[in-house]
Amino acid sequence: MNLSKPSILLVDDQIENLLLLNGILSKQGYNVHAVKSGKEAFERINVSVPDLILLDIMMPEMDGYEIFQKIKANELTKDVAIIFISALCNTREILYGLELGALDYISKPFNNKEVVARVKNYIQMIQLKKIQEFQNISLISEIKKRQFAEREILNANHQLELLNTRLNDIREEERATIAREINDELGQSLTALKIDLAWTKDNTTGTTDITNKIDTMIETVSDVIKKIQRISTDLRPSILDDLGLVPAIEWYSGEFQNRTGINCHLNLEYIQSADINKNLCVFRVLQEGFTNVARHADAKNIFVKLHSINDYIHLEISDDGNGIKTESINSKNSLGLIGIRERIKHFNGTFEIAAKADQGTKLSIELPIN
Ligand SMILES: Nc1ncnc2c1ncn2[C@@H]1O[C@H](COP(=O)(O)OP(=O)(O)OP(=O)(O)O)[C@@H](O)[C@H]1O
Ligand SMILES: [Mg+2]
Repeated sequence: MNLSKPSILLVDDQIENLLLLNGILSKQGYNVHAVKSGKEAFERINVSVPDLILLDIMMPEMDGYEIFQKIKANELTKDVAIIFISALCNTREILYGLELGALDYISKPFNNKEVVARVKNYIQMIQLKKIQEFQNISLISEIKKRQFAEREILNANHQLELLNTRLNDIREEERATIAREINDELGQSLTALKIDLAWTKDNTTGTTDITNKIDTMIETVSDVIKKIQRISTDLRPSILDDLGLVPAIEWYSGEFQNRTGINCHLNLEYIQSADINKNLCVFRVLQEGFTNVARHADAKNIFVKLHSINDYIHLEISDDGNGIKTESINSKNSLGLIGIRERIKHFNGTFEIAAKADQGTKLSIELPIN
């Protein structure tokens, strides 16, 4: 925006008026240009549009009104401020000029101080208007930029959510496939090996050392079969697909208690969703919640409550450990908790975790059942 030197165009056919006005206004530091006719005025305006025009009404060829109307009819010059110059006695002319839309009038003969004061006021007003317009334009462009950036962020977030859901689905599918292959392929071969070992033991004519060795081998194979079953169930608990959510939670809690020594207290209402993916989601939250208790809580007990409220599945896992710290809850490094939040959001549910007032941590989720 250029506010440097305000420019004024003087249009009057009387040279002495032009000289006088030029003199007093140039002294005020304005960039003044004086012309004697409408023709010259338009030539000048085509070169540079002034901030203000002082326009005489009575002129030969083209009078002030005609010049005024032409200026206002042009898109490029329609906003230029114009003050008419008129002899004091011509009140009708003055009124007509103001009705046309002139800013003001200056009467001849000039009172120098009055001319300077009026022009100064109007120039200040014009400059303020310019600043305001510039600020409005800047503001609008800033608002547009921000709106655009906000839309970009929303789009990016939406895409991330879709990507995350897709990755979760792929992970679950892969887990299910690997679990099936381990169980079916390895499990069946090892079971066949165990049967063969038992047959060999029954039919051997060898020494006690050999039968003892075969017994040890049978034990090892049985142990490996159990481990394979555990790995496969950890990957994808077939019990969840075959028997449902509650048996899966009971089974997992039993396993967890044996493995960690943390007592699991269950209070489970027999509910589940018709959507297997929702049951899987609740189960994965339980797994993450339990793993966190084992890894971070230093707890002796876990309490699990599963029940339905107004067509919502409600799961609550609380422990009597050292309590989660507030900064961990919203940390960008808490990927386990972020994973839970994303899974739950996908099903339009809610997730909360906080340290309890007395002791330990409480994690709870709610999902629409169907
Ligand atoms: N039951 C709990 N008791 C105390 N602190 C907890 C509990 N659950 C979570 N936390 C704290 O919250 C943090 C974030 O948990 P989160 O599951 O997101 O990450 P993580 O378990 O450290 O790693 P991972 O991404 O492998 O799950 C943990 O590092 C731990 O400090
Ligand atoms: Mg974790």
